[in-house]
Amino acid sequence: MAFRSTIVTRQDLPDALFDLLQIAFPNDTYDQRAFWPDDSVHALVYEAGQLVAHAGYVTRTLYLPGREITSAYVEYVAAEPRLRGYGSAVMRALQAEIEGRGFLLSALGTGSSGFYERLGWRLWRGPTAYRAADGNVVPTPNEKPMVLDLGANVNLDDPIECDWRPVGDIW
Ligand SMILES: CC(C)(COP(=O)(O)OP(=O)(O)OC[C@H]1O[C@@H](n2cnc3c(N)ncnc32)[C@H](O)[C@@H]1OP(=O)(O)O)[C@@H](O)C(=O)NCCC(=O)NCCS
Repeated sequence: MAFRSTIVTRQDLPDALFDLLQIAFPNDTYDQRAFWPDDSVHALVYEAGQLVAHAGYVTRTLYLPGREITSAYVEYVAAEPRLRGYGSAVMRALQAEIEGRGFLLSALGTGSSGFYERLGWRLWRGPTAYRAADGNVVPTPNEKPMVLDLGANVNLDDPIECDWRPVGDIW
C-alpha cells in the first residue's frame, strides 16, 4: 500500500472528511462538523490523492479511583469501505501522535472491539458511569469503553467515570 498519512487540527479538516463520515456513520444523528472542538487532532490517510481514512481525538478527563487522567478520546474512526488496511493505518498514525504528545491514556467507545484489540486496545471490565452537570454520578452499565494504556497503568476492573457532554455519545 502506498499511502500518505498526515496529522491536522480542526481548522484544516478537508470537506472530503465529512463525506467519508456520512458513509461510515449513515445513522449518526450528530452534526459531524459541529462535533469537533478547535483543539481536536486528526489523522488522515490519503491514497492517490483521495482521502481514504480518518481518526480523531478530543481531550477528555477520565476519573479513576483517587486520580484524574487527561485522556485522548478517539472518535469517528472511518475508512473507505471499498478498501482494506487503511483503518489500521490511520489508527496507527493517530496512536503514534497521541503517544508523542505525552498522553498516558487513550480511550474510545465502540461496538467493534475486535478491530481495536489488534491495535493494542483493551475493553474496560469495571463499572462505568458519567458525572452529570449537577454533580450526580450516573451509572452506564451497558457501556464499556476501550483503552490504550500508554503508561497510566490502569486496572481494567476499577470503576471509571467521564463527564457528561452535550454532543456525542457519553462514552
Ligand atoms: C472499522 C473500520 C474503520 C475498519 O477499517 P478497515 O480499513 O476495513 O480496517 P483494516 O482493513 O485495517 O482491518 C484490520 C483488521 O481488522 C478487521 N476488522 C475490520 N473491521 C472490524 C470490525 N468491525 N470488527 C472486528 N474486526 C474488524 C479486519 O478484518 C482486518 O483483519 P485482517 O487483517 O485479518 O483482514 C471501517 O470498517 C469503517 O469505517 N467502519 C464504519 C465505521 C466504524 O464502524 N468505525 C469504527 C467503530 S467506532
